Amino acid sequence: MSVFVCPVCREKLNSCGGSLRCPKGHSYDLAKAGYVNLLMAQSSKSKRHGDDKAMVAARKRFLEKGYYSPLLDGLVSLLSKFIKDGDTLADLGCGEGWYSRGIMKFADESGMDIALAGVDISKCSAAFAAKSLPSAEIAVASTSSLPLGNESCDICLCVFAPFSMEEVRRVLRPGGRFVRAFPLEDHLIGLKKLVYDSVYANKVRTAGCDGFAVEDRLEIRSVLRLDNKQDIADLFMMTPYYYKTSRAGQEKVAAVSELETPIEFGIEVMRKQ
Ligand SMILES: C[S@@+](CC[C@H](N)C(=O)[O-])C[C@H]1O[C@@H](n2cnc3c(N)ncnc32)[C@H](O)[C@@H]1O
Repeated sequence: MSVFVCPVCREKLNSCGGSLRCPKGHSYDLAKAGYVNLLMAQSSKSKRHGDDKAMVAARKRFLEKGYYSPLLDGLVSLLSKFIKDGDTLADLGCGEGWYSRGIMKFADESGMDIALAGVDISKCSAAFAAKSLPSAEIAVASTSSLPLGNESCDICLCVFAPFSMEEVRRVLRPGGRFVRAFPLEDHLIGLKKLVYDSVYANKVRTAGCDGFAVEDRLEIRSVLRLDNKQDIADLFMMTPYYYKTSRAGQEKVAAVSELETPIEFGIEVMRKQ
């Protein structure tokens, strides 16, 4: 049985050779890379379907150098307080799966068997995630319409990705946790100063909402120093500034070979009542 449900009728999906099938006969083939495409046409009106291949590859190179390890360490330290053997964890906007890999490594080393469901709207991200997380189930889908059953997850994780609080509420079991990582005020302000003439601090939005209680919170602040063009280009490409910036702005980033910037992450754990 898959952790995913049919995006048409919300019935449970079963593995059937190289595809997933619901009792009503809707069938979804697994891609060669191992993910399943459960994106419904109406959930994907926009032309941009998440990160493209170059952006995903840039994020993978950058994260694998450990520059954002403090965030992974923070996530693991908070999760370790409540994650338990047999839990189902959904990574919403999982990207190429770097944080999920770190969390699964921790769970494995702690003797826990965790069912991981990764969801991302980008096929390139899903392909990378599926290849690097063979024990997980990965779907192309929107976080605004999750292919997950009601009250089917113990933990929803969301690292720098869009999410719908209604969907998080629907798929979490009572007592389940929503763990969200988000940028604090001065996160990447050094990069923004390079690109823009006037720079504003990030607006920090906590996701507090009815039916959830904030259980834990962590702020991580550090300074990132990059000393080569590849790492600077990779960092830029994994941010939303990349596709929002003019060619002139992109050229400014391409011209520098050193960058120093604060990196500031917030993590919030909210418990469903
Ligand atoms: C900034 S990246 C973060 C990726 C990953 N969580 C990480 O931190 O490495 C945002 C991710 O959200 C995905 N995304 C954007 N809109 C989405 C949506 N509506 N539903 C699901 N994924 C989405 C993008 O494809 C991208 O992989």
